[in-house]
Amino acid sequence: MSPEERPDRNLAIEIMRATESAALAAARWQGRGEKVNGDQAAVDAMRKMLDTVHMDGTVIIGEGEKDEAPMLYNGEHVGTGEPPKVDIAVDPIDGTRLLAEGRPGSLAVLAAAEDGAMFDPGPCVYMEKLVVAGEAKDAVDLDRPLEGNLDAIARASGKEVRDLTVIMLDRDRHEDAKRAVREAGARLQLITDGDVAAGVLAAWDERPEIDLLYGIGGTPEGVSLACAIKAVDGYMLGRLWPRSDSERQAAVDGGYDLESILTADDLVSGDDAFFACTGITPGQLVSGVTFDPHGAVTESLVMRSKSGTVRTIRARHRFTKLRQYASVDY
Ligand code: FBP
Repeated sequence: MSPEERPDRNLAIEIMRATESAALAAARWQGRGEKVNGDQAAVDAMRKMLDTVHMDGTVIIGEGEKDEAPMLYNGEHVGTGEPPKVDIAVDPIDGTRLLAEGRPGSLAVLAAAEDGAMFDPGPCVYMEKLVVAGEAKDAVDLDRPLEGNLDAIARASGKEVRDLTVIMLDRDRHEDAKRAVREAGARLQLITDGDVAAGVLAAWDERPEIDLLYGIGGTPEGVSLACAIKAVDGYMLGRLWPRSDSERQAAVDGGYDLESILTADDLVSGDDAFFACTGITPGQLVSGVTFDPHGAVTESLVMRSKSGTVRTIRARHRFTKLRQYASVDY
């Protein structure tokens, strides 16, 4: 079989082993009130497993710069070093506070894309995000008031506005947006953290319970989410949102256009993006880790934009066997 004839490789399935590992390690910290220890457990486990993946990966979206993050820092090389050369976005825990407080919805997330494909947000920590399913693609506009977008989404989806559910991070900066949703008559679902899972629910037509994610959240989370959105044919609009004048100035000095509206294709270019996530605490998108006398069960989502394949993988992990050879401490 010539290389051209060989079926393409789905890197998402391989990187999912690293989100599973991160979730298994982090789940031990559920509800213990220790954000840093939970995150460290996830980072260590994810890092060890990522290094077994046959790829030449560079972390574009990581835990921060080298000096502040001992592992999975921006620019770090991960994988065995063999081709393909890929960009990597890591979010060992989306919802570190959810995990520490024992609340639902924390996830381990990894995304990969072609070399040079991922947007580097530089100094911009936050962005405004609007995410809908593909059917409402032509209905939304980031410059239009939310009420107008909700009307247009309702028309595009064949629902009434009162049937629509908007998911939003519960933050003071969203007071106007919350009021707009309520005045329009749509249903509001507020979450304390975790807008990656929220964005997948909004974008994925298989999950019609959420029609719109709106609000200002992390830019790194936006890049990982864009990989999933490309896989489920959802639609996303974003705009960088500087927190302060100094951040605004740093972004302008770095050549960022703060007015520009970014789509999922601007955040992750090319047609081969991979996304994997595994539930840590029980969640609306995926189940959390459950332990039993022999090991644990995880639930993950695995997606590839080129094929549009989305897999839900429920895995049973046998600690008695894994402990005999694995480098991760289960
Ligand atoms: P972390 O787990 O990395 O803290 O992220 C949780 C999260 O809720 C993200 O899902 C979201 O994009 C971001 O934080 C919002 O930031 P903030 O909590 O500062 O409003």
